[in-house]
Amino acid sequence: MLSDDLKTLLDQALGEIGTADTEALEALRVSLLGKSGSVTMLLKSLGGMDPEARKAAGAGINLLKTQITDAISARRATLDEAALTTRLAAERIDVTQPPRPEPLGAIHPISRTVEEIAAIFGAMGFAIKDGPDIENDWNNFSALNIPSHHPARAMMDTFYLTGGEVLRTHTSPVQVRTMLSEPPPIRIIVPGRTFRADHDATHSPMFHQCEGLVIEEGITLGHLKGCLSDFLSAFFGVPNLPVRLRTSYFPFTEPSMEVDIGWNKKTGEIGGGTDWLEIGGSGMVHPNVLANCGIDPRRYQGFAFGVGLERITMLKHGINDLRLFYESDVRWLRHYGFSPLSPATLHEGI
Ligand code: DAH
Repeated sequence: MLSDDLKTLLDQALGEIGTADTEALEALRVSLLGKSGSVTMLLKSLGGMDPEARKAAGAGINLLKTQITDAISARRATLDEAALTTRLAAERIDVTQPPRPEPLGAIHPISRTVEEIAAIFGAMGFAIKDGPDIENDWNNFSALNIPSHHPARAMMDTFYLTGGEVLRTHTSPVQVRTMLSEPPPIRIIVPGRTFRADHDATHSPMFHQCEGLVIEEGITLGHLKGCLSDFLSAFFGVPNLPVRLRTSYFPFTEPSMEVDIGWNKKTGEIGGGTDWLEIGGSGMVHPNVLANCGIDPRRYQGFAFGVGLERITMLKHGINDLRLFYESDVRWLRHYGFSPLSPATLHEGI
């Protein structure tokens, strides 16, 4: 039971709480329940009373405190709820409004080629690997059977960095990284950026390659040819595209083969005519490379290949100047680019 004094105090407090806004409610809380608030002071005064009086007064003051505390919480909940309702109404979005037309971007032809290669080799069970642009000498050269004194180093105009590293001259170092990090069987492709100190209409200091590597027991040159023929046929959309392996030399393969496709030099038609066009290098992985990467060459064999992505992209789409790939000319990109809404898939051919 509350004394008359307390009852008056409670009625007044409840009246004010019931109509307070957020700020006023906080002020009320402080003036009633804060450190020197009126209810707090009443509670403190209990300390100076003798036990009998304290017992009588205590119950009433605590009841007062509980009722005020509850009233403040209830009012706060009401105010929060109202604020939320106002906000929801203000932030309402009309989902029936038609979208504003936005200019649609285009996928760069090199990116498209990477997507297509990934789709074709993905269907053959290949995984995609990646490596850093900055490589150490061992991964880029020595492990690939190109020792420092070897003239093959001069085949590539290398960008050397001050710490002894290089900008990778080919995607082949990712062969090394992969063989060192996982046991055979290995089936990977490595699309990526490569760098050489070369610059003219057909050479760019930064260009793209796609490496391929298969390491399994019993792999032969026949597998290499079949795999590349299937890939090139699918990529160029020419069934039974003529593919020729022509003996060559790479330090990291034995035997080594250039990969040529049939075409018509005059018309540019891929698969037609009687001319041959080189589009990449390949071969059976050299036993020294396998051994350098901790793989037993008496047990495992494999093939590898490297294809220039600008080259095959230019051929496929009739692009005749390599430099246009990197000029970031939006008009060119609109013409040669691909819709981001229809990614490369094998459903209807690439
Ligand atoms: N790495 C070579 C280059 O950049 C291309 C190449 C040739 C890669 C033969 C291979 C290969 O994996 O077997 O010129």
